[in-house]
Amino acid sequence: MIPVLAYLLAFFSALSSISAAPLPAQNQTILNFDVIVVGGGPSGLSALSGLARVRRNALLIDSGEYRNQWTRHAHDVIGSDGVTPAYFRANARQQIAEYPTVTMQNGTVTNIEQLNSTAFLVTDSSGIQYISRKVILGTGLQDILPSTPGISENWARGIYWCPWCDGYEHRDQPLGLLGSIEKIPGLVEEVRTLNTDLIAFVNGTMTADRVSALDSSTPGWENLLTTYGVTIENGTIGDIERIQDGAVYNSQIEKAEYDKFLVHLDNGTTIERAAFFTSFPSTQRSTLGQSLGVVLVEGKLLANMTVGMRTNVDGVYAVGDANSDGSTNIPHAMWSGKRSAVDIHLQLAEEDAVSATAIAGITKRDLEDEETALLRFMELVQ
Ligand SMILES: Cc1cc2nc3c(=O)[nH]c(=O)nc-3n(C[C@H](O)[C@H](O)[C@H](O)COP(=O)(O)OP(=O)(O)OC[C@H]3O[C@@H](n4cnc5c(N)ncnc54)[C@H](O)[C@@H]3O)c2cc1C
Ligand SMILES: *[C@@H]1O[C@H](CO)[C@@H](O)[C@H](O)[C@H]1NC(C)=O
Ligand SMILES: *[C@@H]1O[C@H](CO)[C@@H](O)[C@H](O)[C@H]1NC(C)=O
Ligand SMILES: *[C@@H]1O[C@H](CO)[C@@H](O)[C@H](O)[C@H]1NC(C)=O
Ligand SMILES: *[C@@H]1O[C@H](CO)[C@@H](O)[C@H](O)[C@H]1NC(C)=O
Ligand SMILES: *[C@@H]1O[C@H](CO)[C@@H](O)[C@H](O)[C@H]1NC(C)=O
Ligand SMILES: *[C@@H]1O[C@H](CO)[C@@H](O)[C@H](O)[C@H]1NC(C)=O
Ligand SMILES: *[C@@H]1O[C@H](CO)[C@@H](O)[C@H](O)[C@H]1NC(C)=O
Repeated sequence: MIPVLAYLLAFFSALSSISAAPLPAQNQTILNFDVIVVGGGPSGLSALSGLARVRRNALLIDSGEYRNQWTRHAHDVIGSDGVTPAYFRANARQQIAEYPTVTMQNGTVTNIEQLNSTAFLVTDSSGIQYISRKVILGTGLQDILPSTPGISENWARGIYWCPWCDGYEHRDQPLGLLGSIEKIPGLVEEVRTLNTDLIAFVNGTMTADRVSALDSSTPGWENLLTTYGVTIENGTIGDIERIQDGAVYNSQIEKAEYDKFLVHLDNGTTIERAAFFTSFPSTQRSTLGQSLGVVLVEGKLLANMTVGMRTNVDGVYAVGDANSDGSTNIPHAMWSGKRSAVDIHLQLAEEDAVSATAIAGITKRDLEDEETALLRFMELVQ
């Protein structure tokens, strides 16, 4: 009976490995997890919360380069409108930390290798390795900002990415739109309920080629700009100089921030604007997904939202800004993280039921065989 019992014990101890495992010293034991979540932005934290609530054994590893790390306040997140992004994450971490089966750790995942259909080997930057049954990538995006002086310095603080995030604080102020000519009609449509004094700084992109491309992709775009009184400024931007800081000049009560900038064009012209909305490209923050074989769709990790954000690689999930949903905001990050957590929980339960049934079958027969053998043995030695 001993071999069968040992097998059973090993199996059930593996099944019930739901307590929070202490992290090992470097290069010691490889720890096993149900799930490893890469990234501690709102998507990864939301996924971890969903796993913690049903006592899944999960580890979150976060390298702390958040997309909204320079922003003053996060908006359009109900219940948390206007909190700092750091507060939002710290509050989430504090609440999740109360659940004993999950662990959060600061660090960078440097490699993920799929060992077989049920196991990934995850390595972090300090050389520690983990085994995990499923992997959630909440690794986010990185904005690619032009080198023009003043843009990265003032990014997220007067020079913005999204009207929902920061438009209301600059409503009815003289606004600049920054982006190549083909991005301007879309930007105008997004901000037109917030501002009427709009100048599009297209930085020399108003060339014949691009204009005719725009004519065919967006017929009527010039009428749109005329209707909303948008001026196009085609001069090359030399730099954008801050002359007033909305972090100092603002009104919490009126929800208004008063930044002020001077746009210096290369030919010497200077134009004053209160704030800017931009359309610049972005890229994946991490290459982990591609290395695992996740397909990229227009630069995003392919995820199927009808089956809980599964990617094309079995056991790998993509959530938040990094995934292909075409939605990049905190509510989407939280929703997609939660969705992956639910799918993984049920998927693991199904997989465990299959192996438990198989083992239960073997066990019953084997136990009977062993019992007979034991009885015979006892008869013999008597
Ligand atoms: C200027 C600006 C302002 C914004 N304001 C708002 C707002 O007001 N409201 C709103 O809803 N949205 C806002 N957004 C969008 C919001 O920031 C994103 O939608 C949100 O951060 C996406 O969450 P995420 O978890 O997918 O990614 P992130 O928050 O970017 O987090 C990804 C995390 O993964 C980590 N990571 C990546 N690779 C690895 C690795 N190999 N190992 C370990 N960790 C890794 C990163 O370091 C990072 O910590 C704003 C965006 C910008 C650019
Ligand atoms: C981990 O990072 C978070 C923020 O990203 C920080 O608040 C926390 O102090 C860090 N923890 C450690 C142990 O360094
Ligand atoms: C997959 O690999 C893990 C870790 O090496 C191992 O424990 C497990 O038995 C393997 N599973 C299969 C189905 O091969
Ligand atoms: C752990 O392993 C990594 C590479 O696998 C190595 O660089 C590092 O020095 C090791 N650390 C210790 C404490 O042995
Ligand atoms: C403007 O164009 C110059 C030259 O092409 C380029 O270096 C710079 O990054 C551009 N700036 C913006 C804001 O687009
Ligand atoms: C815009 O600037 C570019 C680059 O200097 C130039 O080639 C183009 O002719 C300009 N367009 C207009 C309408 O002046
Ligand atoms: C600079 O160029 C812009 C167009 O790009 C033009 O409107 C402006 O008059 C020019 N200023 C000078 C001083 O030449
Ligand atoms: C997403 O998954 C569903 C259910 O398995 C499937 O019917 C659908 O084709 C998938 N979508 C894509 C784009 O793969």
